[in-house]
Amino acid sequence: MQPLRAVKGMNDILPEEMERWQRVERAFAHHLGLCGFGEVRTPYLEPTQLFVRAIGEVTDVVEKEMYSFRHHDEPLTLRPEGTAGAVRAYIEHAVSGKEPVTRWFYMGPMFRAERPQKGRYRQFYQLGAEILGDKGPFCDAELIATLVDFLRAIRVPDLTVLVNSLGGPDTRDRYRAALTQYLTPRSGELSEDSARRLAHNPLRILDSKHPKDQAVVSGAPTLVDCLSEDDLRHFELLKGSLDALAVPYKVEPRLVRGLDYYTRTLFEIKGAKERLGAGDTLVGGGRYDGLVRDLGGPDVPAIGFAAGLERLLIAMDDEPKGPKIEVFVAPLGDQATASAILLSRALREAGIRTETDTRGASLKSQLRRANTLGARVALVVGEDEVREGFVQVKDLAGHSQERVARSEVATYVAAHLAKGAVPA
Ligand code: HAM
Repeated sequence: MQPLRAVKGMNDILPEEMERWQRVERAFAHHLGLCGFGEVRTPYLEPTQLFVRAIGEVTDVVEKEMYSFRHHDEPLTLRPEGTAGAVRAYIEHAVSGKEPVTRWFYMGPMFRAERPQKGRYRQFYQLGAEILGDKGPFCDAELIATLVDFLRAIRVPDLTVLVNSLGGPDTRDRYRAALTQYLTPRSGELSEDSARRLAHNPLRILDSKHPKDQAVVSGAPTLVDCLSEDDLRHFELLKGSLDALAVPYKVEPRLVRGLDYYTRTLFEIKGAKERLGAGDTLVGGGRYDGLVRDLGGPDVPAIGFAAGLERLLIAMDDEPKGPKIEVFVAPLGDQATASAILLSRALREAGIRTETDTRGASLKSQLRRANTLGARVALVVGEDEVREGFVQVKDLAGHSQERVARSEVATYVAAHLAKGAVPA
C-alpha cells in the first residue's frame, strides 16, 4: 500500500527542529511581555465573512488563497491571518470598555493556498502583535522599535525596515482616482488579473508580482503625493520618532501591502536576503484605524504586525545546538532497569534532563547512545549496584568513573553539572 503523505505545503515539525521554534517563540513572548502585551488565542476557524469584510473581497488572499468550506450550511474559513480574528474577539468581548489601550500578541498557524516554495507554505506560523486604542505616530514607532529589538535578539542579520503611509480614507480615495486615471489608458498592458481589478481595487495592482504589471506600475503616481496635511504630519512624526529611537528605515513610496484594511502607517521588514531569496519579507504590518468600526465595533484605531516564523528560522544566524539531555541512565538487567527508572525520576525532580535506556541493550550500545544524545554523565546501574545501593557515575568527556551512594546521586550529579567539572 502507498504510504499517505502530508498535504502539499503543510509541514511536520520534528523534535530536532522544535528546539529552534521554541527558542524564537519564547524570545517573542519575552520581548512582547516586557512591553505589556498579553497573549491571545483565537480559533483557527472563523466565519468566512469575517475575512471577506476585513481583508477585502478583491485581494489575492480572499479571491484565491482561502481554505473555505461549508459545515451544515455555515460558511467557514481556516484563518489566513491573525488580525481579523483578534479584532473580532476584541469586539465580541467588549474589550474597549475595559481598558483604553489593548496590547495583544499571538503565535500560531495560518493557512493560505499559495504555491509552495522556500519560505512560502500553505500552513505557516505567524508571530503577531496588535495595539488597539492608540492612534498616534509614537505608538507606531515604538511598535516598530520593539519588533526590531526582537529581530536583533534572535540574530536576524541585514535588517531593512521599509515604511510608507497610505493615508486615511480621503487620501485613499484621492489616490485611487489618480491611479485609475494613470492606469486606464494602459489597461491593455496589464496582466489579466490586474485589468479586471482596475475597476474595483486598483491599489492591489501596485503589489502584483506579474512582470507586465510591475513595468506599468513603475511610472504610476505615488501615495506620498496625495497625503492630506494630517496624514503627512503623522508620517513625519513617525519618521522623527524612528530617528530618535535609532531605528534605521527606508521610505518605500510604492509599499501598499496586500490587505485592504490598512490606513496610514505601513511597514515591512526584510532581512538575510541570501538565505531567503525572493521571499525575504520577514514581517508585514501597519495601521488599520477603520477596521474595528467596519467589523461592527466602536471607533477604535489600531496598528499591528505579523512575522512569518519559518522565515525567521531560515534568516536567523545559528546558535550552537545544546545537548538534548544531561544524564543518561544505563541499567544492566531487569532489576536494574526498574531501579534506573526510579533514579531518573529523582534526577528529573532535581531539574536534571535525564533519559533512561529501557530496551535491555548492552552497556556498549547504551554508552554509544548516551554520547549521541550529548549526555555529559552516564549512570551505570548493574545488579551489584542495586544490591549494594551504589551507582557508577561516568563522566563521558573526562572518561573518569566514581562510585556514589544512590541516595547521594542527584545532589552529586547536580553539583557536578553546575561546576562543569570532571568527577574526581
Ligand atoms: P502579511 O504580510 O500577509 O500580513 O503576513 C505577514 C508575514 O507572514 C509575512 O511577512 C511573511 O513573513 C509571513 N507569511 C505570509 N504568507 C506566508 C506563507 N504563505 N508562508 C510563509 N510565511 C508567510 C498579515 O498577515 C497581517 N495580519 C499583519 C498585520 C497584523 N497587520 C496588522 N496587524
